[in-house]
Amino acid sequence: MVVLRLRSIHTHRRQYAIICFVIVGLIVYRNISMRPEESKPIRRGGLKANSSQFTLEGVAFRILGGSAHYFRIPRAYWKDRLLKMKACGLNTLTTYVPWNLHEPERGVFNFQDQLDLEAYIRLAEEVGLWVILRPGPYICSEWDLGGLPSWLLRDKDMKLRTTYPGFTRAVSSFFDELIPRIAHLQYMRGGPIIAVQVENEYGSYAQDDQYMPFIKEALVSRGITEFLMTSDNHEGLKLGGVVGALKTINFQKLNPESIQYLDAVQPHQPKLVMEYWAGWFDLWGDLHHVFVVEEMIAVVKAILNQGMSINLYMFHGGTNFGFMSGALARPPGHRAVVTSYDYDAPLSESGDYTQKYNLLRELFSKYHSETLPPKPVLQWRRAYDAVTVYQYLPLWDTLKFTEEPFTSASPVNMENLPVNNGNGQSYGYTLYETTVTSGGALNSRNNVRDRALVFVDRMYIGVLDYKTIEIAVPDGKGVRKLSLLVENCGRVNYGKVLDEQRKGLVGDIVLNNIPLRNFSIYSLDMNPTFISRISGLRWNRLDKPTFPGFFQGQLQVSGYPRDTFLKLPGWSKGVVFVNGQNLGRYWSVGPQQTLYLPGPWLWKGVNQVIVFEELESDGKIQSSRTPDLGMTVDVN
Ligand SMILES: *[C@@H]1O[C@H](CO)[C@@H](O)[C@H](O)[C@H]1NC(C)=O
Ligand SMILES: *[C@@H]1O[C@H](CO)[C@@H](O)[C@H](O)[C@H]1NC(C)=O
Repeated sequence: MVVLRLRSIHTHRRQYAIICFVIVGLIVYRNISMRPEESKPIRRGGLKANSSQFTLEGVAFRILGGSAHYFRIPRAYWKDRLLKMKACGLNTLTTYVPWNLHEPERGVFNFQDQLDLEAYIRLAEEVGLWVILRPGPYICSEWDLGGLPSWLLRDKDMKLRTTYPGFTRAVSSFFDELIPRIAHLQYMRGGPIIAVQVENEYGSYAQDDQYMPFIKEALVSRGITEFLMTSDNHEGLKLGGVVGALKTINFQKLNPESIQYLDAVQPHQPKLVMEYWAGWFDLWGDLHHVFVVEEMIAVVKAILNQGMSINLYMFHGGTNFGFMSGALARPPGHRAVVTSYDYDAPLSESGDYTQKYNLLRELFSKYHSETLPPKPVLQWRRAYDAVTVYQYLPLWDTLKFTEEPFTSASPVNMENLPVNNGNGQSYGYTLYETTVTSGGALNSRNNVRDRALVFVDRMYIGVLDYKTIEIAVPDGKGVRKLSLLVENCGRVNYGKVLDEQRKGLVGDIVLNNIPLRNFSIYSLDMNPTFISRISGLRWNRLDKPTFPGFFQGQLQVSGYPRDTFLKLPGWSKGVVFVNGQNLGRYWSVGPQQTLYLPGPWLWKGVNQVIVFEELESDGKIQSSRTPDLGMTVDVN
């Protein structure tokens, strides 16, 4: 008995100790649970809508978000940009997921290095930011085809963003790969993801009633359990949304009607401005858009004063490296987005603080009980000695390093070329060559997407684009070679013409009304393999270069490599590769005059610079400490 009683006292003590432990644990947990960097993976309640406000762990919570895309920021700078976001007083990172980078060929996935989404989300957690994930599959974002892979367009019947089986099957197979990589990073599983967006501005597209329920189910059935949202502008809200997801709104100016409208379609729910457009993007041949800081701050204040949550699109825009920028449909033509995605955002393209940043920090600091972390120190910038180009390769000499040319009686658009393991060509240039036996009127029948340099016997004779659909082929003797070097300037990322974004030659080209036939078609996607192949060749001395061509020089870096901005004032149009990295397009029509070159992509000593130039060069590449995004214009 004695023994038994003792045991039972022990048992009681133990139970008592356990209860005390649990209570203390709960108190400690409650105190730290609002700080993601310290929180434990035991959680009771993620983001919820409680009448007109959000709660997190049952406590009122206001989303102060900012967009920054891992795919537009050199990985070495991810942490820097996120620390600057945190120091601005934001509590939530929002990011899109670009399907076309993650699945470059059907069934071939890339979540490594620059595309390590999991590492990016973990970094946000480490810095103390919650995450709202916007996995698309369509993301808009001034990104080629709104983030959709171009190989989808190989199917001539493709209906993007609908329940067309060829599309839903591809989405399912992408989500099978994507969702398991991020599901364990959701809030209730101890991670920082507090919400997931279903598709993107579908109300502005609205081609299929079954599509949004399909996407929602595609997320939920793969283990997405956190709060769901949709995102639309005022117009899009009319047809936007899906049952079981909170509608949010996108705008730049605070229009009281928009807020009333949101209230009417969705009463007694928290309001989030999912995309508060803190600036704007730029198009080639246009001006650099600026959204006046005073006006921006006034709208942000008004949004906060009305008790709404906000996400700054963009907080930090970054860069459309490579060939990834999108375009706007401007029938009959299209206008391509520039390489910089500075966006006139609070944090500049290269991570500099702006007046917007400083004023927002002051404003957001009032929404925190503790003082904000100090602003991280800025990166040094350098102007390097001008790069002197000393050798070149005519484009024509590099053709043997592309895949075998495809021969076809009629022109074939780039997506349907039998290259890249049956995935077609996605980006860059495509060369179409045939022969002619006379001169005359060469008419594109508006089948050039988007811009073709035309050559006879490899001598330049002019450009065909949306504005110029006919040029004269001079008379000449015998059989001559006719070449059209067609550039995909970027697929449209917004609007109802997504299905029509095939590039290259999309139909017949006629000479004196007779369709040209028997083409040799070269795919010039200028991918890293191609660039490294041609850089190993014997290049020509630069005395009398012919164009188009590849031009090579060396950038000398003494000491620690720093960010810089490349300038090519004596060149017309092309692409710059530094140590194999595609920095993006330059074009003398502007507005953008400099290309951002991040320090982490340089090394001490000799750096290889290769420029693909279409028409002219003065053989010099300069650099500068400061960017030049061109003549400005107010977004208004
Ligand atoms: C949730 O809403 C109810 C009713 O409006 C309110 O009484 C309660 O305080 C709210 N809870 C939080 C955490 O805001
Ligand atoms: C194209 O090539 C085929 C086969 O070589 C030939 O029969 C035909 O005449 C050519 N067509 C033209 C327009 O040159």
